[in-house]
Amino acid sequence: HKGEYLHFMEKEIFEQPKVVKDTLLYACNQENEETAGNAGNSEYPEFSYEAFSMTEKDFQEISRVRVIACGSAYHAGWVLKSVCESLARVPVQVELASEFRYNHPILEKGELVISISQSGETADTLAALKEAKKLGAKTLSIVNVKGSAIARESDFVFYTQAGPEIAVATTKAYSCQLAAGYIFSLLLAKAKGKISKEETRSLTEELFLLPGKIQQCLSFDQEILPMAKELKDADNIFFLGRGLDWAISMEGALKLKEISYIHCESYSSGELKHGTISLIEKGSPVIGLLSQEELAGKSISNIHEVRSRGAKCFAIRMEDIAIEEEDFAHNLIVPKTHPLFAGSLLVLPLQFLSYQVSLLKGFDPDKPRNLAKSVTVE
Ligand code: BG6
Repeated sequence: HKGEYLHFMEKEIFEQPKVVKDTLLYACNQENEETAGNAGNSEYPEFSYEAFSMTEKDFQEISRVRVIACGSAYHAGWVLKSVCESLARVPVQVELASEFRYNHPILEKGELVISISQSGETADTLAALKEAKKLGAKTLSIVNVKGSAIARESDFVFYTQAGPEIAVATTKAYSCQLAAGYIFSLLLAKAKGKISKEETRSLTEELFLLPGKIQQCLSFDQEILPMAKELKDADNIFFLGRGLDWAISMEGALKLKEISYIHCESYSSGELKHGTISLIEKGSPVIGLLSQEELAGKSISNIHEVRSRGAKCFAIRMEDIAIEEEDFAHNLIVPKTHPLFAGSLLVLPLQFLSYQVSLLKGFDPDKPRNLAKSVTVE
């Protein structure tokens, strides 16, 4: 039921503060709000290995991680890679499920294969998972639908707590997948002795502050309108980012393609000069994502490069990242969080952008042409 909302997509975007919080609580094996972390409460619960149906020893034995997934879940895998490699120093390889089987996969002893899927029924992901099992790998799935085929097929399961997702273009399930990736990385870092107790505690606290910050980002529903109006007639839109910002830009570009039918390209800012810059002409819209302090300077200089070739630039940035406002036609700011978790906030204006552009163009964002919610053929 859509209730007060026009579309399921809008309703599901608005559910994100709650479902991300539910996912964090689920990972603590406690569903009772009173005992779990609320903003301002210093007594935060601890994440538990059991939420992944694993033991500390299972985590300690992980020497590498391979993520297999499709679509948005694949993009969530790229975020997991960044966070996991940074916190736990365990190498993570992200692969499209539809490619994995045919790439003559080599899995090492101790390599954990993680399949990420909202539906738990995507045929490509399921087939890749079966192949990984055949090769002798331990498998973990991060899925949203209880008892789904991918969940049943895996050795270990983590259930995201997004609840039923109706809109074809995922929003809340993706946000919960990001949260699951953060928690997995934190637990792996802890099991491997890569972070101190204090760091674990402060990152956990930061995670429990995220739902409140996601709530603040719901105001982009309306704030995004002027930018959506400027972009609705574009033929091509470019997204730029480095590191985690690049991972999020892939999802932003996919959302806009899926439901507004505008061709979008997500580019690593550093790679732009090696090719795509030739596509930039007067008025080309470029959306720069800027949440990583140590990379922002470089990304901004890449934005200057496209601007000097006539691009019209838009910034979506984290508070405190310094920019020169006159460089940008619009400049949207998300609240400050730990840079590793910034994607959970940046994605909100991107979701609203695709939603509003789709409406402005007269499309039904819930039912994009040619797409199915869950694809059960390879
Ligand atoms: C696609 C959907 O077919 O499958 C995407 O249109 C989705 O929105 C992808 O991200 C993967 O689906 P799932 O259920 O495996 O997460």
